[in-house]
Amino acid sequence: MTDKYCVFGNPVGHSKSPAIHAAFARQTGQDLAYRAIAAPIGGFAGAVDAFVAEGGRGANVTLPFKQEAYRLATRRTRRAEQAGAVNTLVFGNGEALGDNTDGVGLLRDITLALDTPVRGRRILLLGAGGAARGVIGPLLDEQPESLTVANRTAERARALAACFAALGSVEGCGCGELSGRAFDIVIDATSAGVSGAMPDLPAGLFAPGSLAYSMMYGPGETPFCVFAREQGAGKVSDGLGMLLGQAAESFFVWRGVRPDCAPIAELLRKDQAFRRAVDAR
Ligand code: ATR
Repeated sequence: MTDKYCVFGNPVGHSKSPAIHAAFARQTGQDLAYRAIAAPIGGFAGAVDAFVAEGGRGANVTLPFKQEAYRLATRRTRRAEQAGAVNTLVFGNGEALGDNTDGVGLLRDITLALDTPVRGRRILLLGAGGAARGVIGPLLDEQPESLTVANRTAERARALAACFAALGSVEGCGCGELSGRAFDIVIDATSAGVSGAMPDLPAGLFAPGSLAYSMMYGPGETPFCVFAREQGAGKVSDGLGMLLGQAAESFFVWRGVRPDCAPIAELLRKDQAFRRAVDAR
């Protein structure tokens, strides 16, 4: 029987996960079906129960259910504990194992696909919400020279950094306190780009040859990417690689096989270029 997987979210119609996992399954010869399920707000646990009852083997979890999935999991991995959120569930023997693959997805994209080491580098992480929290542990695991978490609301960044102080050199501050400092890798984990905005940043943040990384992926560049380019960042990347990386890691957790993201990234880029061309007509 074909193994069943899904992504829970609300809304979830826009999710690229079904297409990505179908491509992974084709590429690796795995027999699985993956679909999107819109769980009602307040009805996440019921939707999970129904999926498990029909034989579901595992699931991804996206907004707004990642914290609820954390609470629902009967066991959790270290990286899920650190993130305080779960984006991957594995069902079996009456248990639900909660994992979080967002951080490793980002790190694999930065270090492997973009060929940018984190070890010994000065890292700036913008934002202090769930997206930022999910990547701090994996970033510190790479032993950067320093990790600065900067946020519009300084207090949130300080509080978040304090949670991870035992794991490495991490400090929190307000975006306004960044003047006169430069970084080797600047990651935008804010949700500002959703509304076409960006954090209020001083000039001079990007060291020569630095990487600017936006965790968002969608049509068009975020204002952060445009700013980074204007400011002379050496490399600018959107979050497609992270999206694929977290999906590939979930696939690995479920199936024990690691798919190759590169050909699928190429397909999605072509699809995006095609849509832009159609929209421009
Ligand atoms: P997520 O789970 O996506 O991280 P979140 O917990 O709501 O969402 O956090 C959103 C983050 O984006 C916060 O760091 C927020 O800054 P504040 O803590 O000051 O609210 C940041 N953010 C959202 N819109 C922003 C904007 N226009 N400029 C700067 N930061 C913004």
